[in-house]
Amino acid sequence: MKFGHFDDKEYEYVITNYNTPLPWINYYGQDGFFSLMSNTCGGYMFFKDAKLRRITRFRYNNVPRDYGGRYYYINDNGTIWNPGFLPLKTKLDSYKCRHGLGYSIFESEKNNLKCELLCFVPLNDLCEINQLTLTNNSKETKKVTLHGVVEWCLWNAVDDQTNFQRNWNIGEVEVDDSTIYHKTEYRERRDHYAFYHTNIKHDGFDSDLDTFLGLYNSWCDPSAVLNKTSYNSVASGWAPIASHMFNLEIKPGESKTVIFQTGYVENKEDEKWEKLHVINKEKAYELQKKYATKEQVLKAFNNLKTKWVSLLSTLKVKSDNEKFDRMVNIWNQYQCMVTFNMSRSASYYESGTGRGMGFRDSCQDLLGFLHLIPEKSRERIKDIASIQFEDGSTYHQYQPLTKRGNADIGGGFNDDPLWLIAATSQYIKETGDYSILNDPTPFNNKEGSEKPLIDHLRASLNYIITHKGPHGLPLIGRADWNDCLNLNCFSKTPGESFQTASNFESGKAESVFIAGMFVLYGKEFATILNHIGNKDEANKILAEVKSIEDATVKYGWDGEWFVRAYDAFSNKVGSHECEDGQIFVEPQGFCTMARIGEDLGFGKKALDSVEKILTNDYGVEILHPCYKEYHIELGEVSSYPMGYKENGSVFCHNNPWIVIANTVIGNNERAFDVYRRNCPAYLEDVSEIHKTEPYIYSQTIAGRDAKNYGEAKNSWLTGTASWTMYAASQAILGIKPDYDGLMIDPHLPKEIKHAQVTRIFRGIKYNISITNNASGKYQMTIDNKPIDGKIIPYNKDITEVNVIITL
Ligand code: GLC
Ligand code: GLC
Repeated sequence: MKFGHFDDKEYEYVITNYNTPLPWINYYGQDGFFSLMSNTCGGYMFFKDAKLRRITRFRYNNVPRDYGGRYYYINDNGTIWNPGFLPLKTKLDSYKCRHGLGYSIFESEKNNLKCELLCFVPLNDLCEINQLTLTNNSKETKKVTLHGVVEWCLWNAVDDQTNFQRNWNIGEVEVDDSTIYHKTEYRERRDHYAFYHTNIKHDGFDSDLDTFLGLYNSWCDPSAVLNKTSYNSVASGWAPIASHMFNLEIKPGESKTVIFQTGYVENKEDEKWEKLHVINKEKAYELQKKYATKEQVLKAFNNLKTKWVSLLSTLKVKSDNEKFDRMVNIWNQYQCMVTFNMSRSASYYESGTGRGMGFRDSCQDLLGFLHLIPEKSRERIKDIASIQFEDGSTYHQYQPLTKRGNADIGGGFNDDPLWLIAATSQYIKETGDYSILNDPTPFNNKEGSEKPLIDHLRASLNYIITHKGPHGLPLIGRADWNDCLNLNCFSKTPGESFQTASNFESGKAESVFIAGMFVLYGKEFATILNHIGNKDEANKILAEVKSIEDATVKYGWDGEWFVRAYDAFSNKVGSHECEDGQIFVEPQGFCTMARIGEDLGFGKKALDSVEKILTNDYGVEILHPCYKEYHIELGEVSSYPMGYKENGSVFCHNNPWIVIANTVIGNNERAFDVYRRNCPAYLEDVSEIHKTEPYIYSQTIAGRDAKNYGEAKNSWLTGTASWTMYAASQAILGIKPDYDGLMIDPHLPKEIKHAQVTRIFRGIKYNISITNNASGKYQMTIDNKPIDGKIIPYNKDITEVNVIITL
């Protein structure tokens, strides 16, 4: 069952039924001010960091679901409704929510009163604009009261939900004409405030929640709305909100527009005040003036749209598969932008109060983002590398506001260091710019510890080389990519973290997955070293690669697939010898991508096993059979009920590894088959089962052993976005940035007979026409001349290249 449809021309998903199985959300913002917006107007806003700088309040496990947003109440002669259906749930005569790239447009109508609500965060400004237009389509003049409202968060989102003994005393606002300023804690150590402003004079306001709602009322029956009034309340402590009321008289055929703006301002310490207790509003006024008219709003909105058209022009495909095209051209790239911005911090599943930016997550997010904005990627690589320690190990996470490593979680995830090589090498391939290797980058953000970035990459490899176990395989530490494989934590205490309570430092548990990574990215680093003329060092690295490769062939192969790990007692994990968890997907993907045991046919066999044992209707499950019991020696993986999360769901993140691995062994049909199974556009028709947004990848889809087989969770913030982008563009379409030029090596399935791709690469526009006769033969011509090989050498003197590929 569908709840809407794609509008590819507008780059939108149009939700036409507000009863979506879960909130279907969207993200706004690019540099500082970010918002989440659901299809019922729920969600929240924050500046840079959803934990430390939360602007509006949201209660994640609220009942009912998804309350807390920016709400508009329209009281039309006693019929009260909201353009986004919630909170009142008044049945609408028509409803559309168009989620576009960085904006949403709600179009709804009730009793011949039409509402259009345009919501977005403009480029380069710290505010969210909500432009609301009411049009009277009836034959009589309507007298309508309109209330707009947001609820402030007291900045630190954790404190806000916990420290009530203090919180109920500190809320402060300033009310000034058409603006309510939220200035809690501004008198003391904060230098930022938020405001809620409307472009026309209101007929009343409220800034105290209890007054606005009325005692024991909820968002579903606010006293002010029911009584068509405002109480002009000025909050002092308790829960500050911002609400403005308008009495609008709208003639037949007439439209009236109100522009609501929620803004954020920072002031220098000595410029905080206009006078005692009156905040300096200069910057707020500037922002308010910029969005005071419909024309100004429209211009900013068009700028945003144009920005996206230009971003997406870097890579475009027109093939005979509409679903593939819309994911590659629009939604997959869009999700890559969101994961780049958010890492795993703030979504409807990540509360924004827990994790900040992940070292491994953010490195991987770059793989699908780099081509969009290389400059931002460079900065990000530096931020990430700055939380590495001198021995090559790394903090696991950092807070976006402070950019400092998160000491609560610490380090010890032994895959982390290698992801830095994945991101940096991809950056060089995209840009051809080796100078990043010389960027002075500190260790653990310590001033004076700066070394060229290349020394960080060296340290990464060195950490693995110096931390090997009894089989010569890399030690796993607290976990590798699979956070839930905790082989050095023997946890019996409820609630204890499986990762940070490492309490059984065996010095023995090894990861075949990290071995695969080391081989893949070790070779990559050697290639870079050769390019910059460090041949001897490259050979040394290749010798280390060989040693781990040999160990993997010897101890990491189970007969039909790669072993997953060795536990603290050197017993195998992910082997036919085990009762449960006999096969894990991760090493099958990574060791095949690294071509370990290629001459022995390992990759082919491993991927056959993946198809036979792990593949279900919605993709490839992470392991099989699911763990039926808790295994103290394995950790969190066995804590999940069967078929959920790391215990046997389709953990979508590693499905693209199987796609890529299949192209490595030349099985194009199967590569596309895996791609298709969890591709959201393909799951749109079964949205009632899949439940999450049909335009966005989710982290996990319940596996065959789960009660709710096929149900997805944790949409948006997942490495699935970037890895699938990488798999679709670089493996299936085969458009691969490489050190010396653009490689074109498509692995299209038979069903895609033709694909026309434009790719802007290092400033050159490549028009690539691929015809797939599935002949097994490859031919490339450039400007009608046949070319040997698959790489188009980079030539800075040309601006456009026409390439024809036949397969
Ligand atoms: C989550 C984490 C990621 C981890 C994965 C598997 O997606 O963000 O870092 O690799 O789970 O456990
Ligand atoms: C990963 C996993 C999740 C686990 C978490 C622990 O994100 O996906 O299942 O709870 O790591 O840090």
